[in-house]
Amino acid sequence: MTGSTIQNPTDTLDRPLRDLRISVTDRCNFRCGYCMPREIFGKGYQFLRQDQLLSFEEITRLVRLFAGFGVRKLRLTGGEPLLRREITSLIEMLAGVDGIDDIAMTTNASLLTRERTQALLDAGLGRLNISLDALDPAVHARINEVDTPLDAVLDGIDNALGEGFSSVKINMVVQKGINEGEIIPMVERFRHSGAILRFIEFMDVGNHNQWSLDQVFTANEIIRLIDARYPVEPVEANYHGEVARRWRFRDGGGEVGVISSISQPFCRDCSRARLSAIGELYTCLFATAGHDFRDLLRSGASDAQIAQRIDSLWRARDDRYSEERLQGLGRPRQKGGSVKVEMSYIGG
Ligand code: GTP
Ligand code: 5AD
Ligand code: SF4
Ligand code: SF4
Repeated sequence: MTGSTIQNPTDTLDRPLRDLRISVTDRCNFRCGYCMPREIFGKGYQFLRQDQLLSFEEITRLVRLFAGFGVRKLRLTGGEPLLRREITSLIEMLAGVDGIDDIAMTTNASLLTRERTQALLDAGLGRLNISLDALDPAVHARINEVDTPLDAVLDGIDNALGEGFSSVKINMVVQKGINEGEIIPMVERFRHSGAILRFIEFMDVGNHNQWSLDQVFTANEIIRLIDARYPVEPVEANYHGEVARRWRFRDGGGEVGVISSISQPFCRDCSRARLSAIGELYTCLFATAGHDFRDLLRSGASDAQIAQRIDSLWRARDDRYSEERLQGLGRPRQKGGSVKVEMSYIGG
């Protein structure tokens, strides 16, 4: 690594860099309306070509450099990360990087066969976060707009729970008028299951999901609804800056979490950077532009030069989009003109 002077920078709001989320593909086999609506991501949409994607060697080199800046936690995302060929090889390579102590994946679970799940664990994947928005097949089909049967996802979840992952979380995006009726059925299914169910406020990510505030079922509303049926009490965060607020069932049925990026943003402790599949670094989920690292990698830059770029980008970072939205401060990127990056392009 490079000299100690450029180690562990903090950004302009004094936030360290701890967590790197890596998108390995922009493709997905689902078309969730809030993420990849079919009108935009249907036939004719130009997805990235294989040669545009960072290679596993390039990703691993970057991760080694990011680890030198304090990154300890990696999350593989997409699109759907299981669509990337040989993803287990990448996990093996990343598991060998000094300093990385947590490798997780966000997936829709539809491709999590038993063999695949075991191979992921063997390769060094520690945790799985699985997206599931409904148990009613009709509601599921309406949200995910795909022919994949709900059972494929439920089987994938069972396979994940049957392996030795240190955690399996289920992420449910709640959209008012669409699936709030699924909250209690989801709670009932996943209480006592070993999985941690988390409810996510519908967000204004990307440019195509027709978001509006009145479609947000807030974290407080969610907890009130659950508490009336299955009483819960708050639990301390697992780690500083944890995105979800934790609640435990008073009867010992496990815990749930709420991710309140709209009603109670958590930018203050945001130590996350995101790497797109083609090697652009995004310092916020709502950024309009990334910073290219692929050219640097492919033009023969030294480790020191790449590290210098990471250092200067992080030191200059001032993103706090969700807080600004709440305070009504909108930056130009919200007012039209510039477009936000798509969530399927940099992962959740
Ligand atoms: P753990 O590592 O298990 O604590 O996961 P996590 O909650 O950090 O990650 P996950 O990818 O499961 O996040 C769940 C959802 O929370 C994402 O899909 C987003 O909807 C939302 N989310 C995660 N990180 C951020 C963030 O930095 N900003 C905002 N606004 N939302 C986020
Ligand atoms: N609002 C909230 N979460 C979203 N995700 C994608 N789009 C949105 C959105 N508009 C998250 C979900 C999903 C993951 C892949 O991305 O958590 O589970
Ligand atoms: Fe695919 Fe996840 Fe986006 Fe749905 S939310 S389209 S499963 S990447
Ligand atoms: Fe971090 Fe941006 Fe999300 Fe705020 S909105 S928590 S700064 S990624």
